[in-house]
Amino acid sequence: MTSSSRVSARLGAIAPSATLAVDAKAKALKAAGRPVIGFGAGEPDFPTPAHIVEAAVEAARDPKNHRYTPAAGLPELKQAIADKTKRDSGYEVDPASVLVTNGGKQAVFQAFAAILDPGDEVILPAPYWTTYPEAITLAGATPVEVFAGADQGYLVTVEQLEAARTENTKALLFCSPSNPTGAVYSQEQTKAIGEWALEHGIWVITDEIYEHLLYDGAQFTPILREVPALADTTIVLNGVAKTFAMTGWRVGWMQGPADVIEAATNFQSHLTSNVANVSQRAAIAALTGPMDEVEAMRVAFDRRRKTMVEMLSAIDGFQVPVPQGAFYAYPSVEEALGREIRGKVANTSAELAAIILDEAEVAVVPGEAFGPSGYVRLSYALADADLAEGVGRIQALLAE
Ligand SMILES: Cc1ncc(COP(=O)(O)O)c(C=O)c1O
Repeated sequence: MTSSSRVSARLGAIAPSATLAVDAKAKALKAAGRPVIGFGAGEPDFPTPAHIVEAAVEAARDPKNHRYTPAAGLPELKQAIADKTKRDSGYEVDPASVLVTNGGKQAVFQAFAAILDPGDEVILPAPYWTTYPEAITLAGATPVEVFAGADQGYLVTVEQLEAARTENTKALLFCSPSNPTGAVYSQEQTKAIGEWALEHGIWVITDEIYEHLLYDGAQFTPILREVPALADTTIVLNGVAKTFAMTGWRVGWMQGPADVIEAATNFQSHLTSNVANVSQRAAIAALTGPMDEVEAMRVAFDRRRKTMVEMLSAIDGFQVPVPQGAFYAYPSVEEALGREIRGKVANTSAELAAIILDEAEVAVVPGEAFGPSGYVRLSYALADADLAEGVGRIQALLAE
């Protein structure tokens, strides 16, 4: 039996998550006693706010949470998601149109699985979050990358989308604020993209997980608020992970048209059933509770963002568009490639990231994880002192 026939073609084609891989390598080196600083992880370094943790502790003591509950989620949580959508996005949704998932990641896979067939194409603005192409491919469809570089602020235009459209285009992936670039589409840009999708009958999968992490006065624009007529062909993805420092609790959701939510719920009922009830109760506390700690975390991210942009901009060969959302900086490192660094030459951003890890003991994620080479992603969701030390080491290494 050859190895290719042992693992299915479908799963054999999936690449490991590059971001988790970088994070794991950095953590392993740290565990081995190396003073590694990791910019790889996409998660807040803060603990989950105490009132959320308390709600979970209480829930764990209540036997009603020790049982299976409806696969689509606790009714109270679906109501809280509908209320939160009204509060934050300004439009009404029926709680029955919500499916609670094990993190936003499961929502991504289920959204694509629910609408795609082999032969379908999904327009994927690049740089993109590393999970999207895997989810599209696993659903049998083809991602069609549309690249927007640092020169255009990592924001694709309607003209670019139109150039990529074919008769097989089924959906557009829209993520604003963006992982990995931190770019935020303006209200006008969002509206124009939504109207283009509506005109051509293209589904929109909109990932709104970074909606609360905005800086410099940038505004989050829910695409369904701008183009309500898209409601029948839009799936909204979201979750509590990034806003409430709850990456480990694994609660996300998808919201969309009844037939799609029903199909995805049927799928989830066989795959994972309900999300852990304790986590769902914690999510209810998060979504219905005060937002002051969320604001305090945002202020801390903003401070770190400014430090990071300033320090990265001082590196010869790094071009650093100022991120306006999420917690990532995405410098272009193209002009830093091809030089000799301690006897080694990096011709790609993957090679540069490897040299930075080996020589400066700093972990960054190469652009290859998110699209073309020539970029690196650094999360600024880490302590101020570590951030300054880590970027300082990169500065020193590249200045040698
Ligand atoms: C753009 C985006 N969407 C969704 C997710 C999913 O997050 P989770 O599965 O932790 O809810 C992430 C996490 O990195 C993300 O960056």
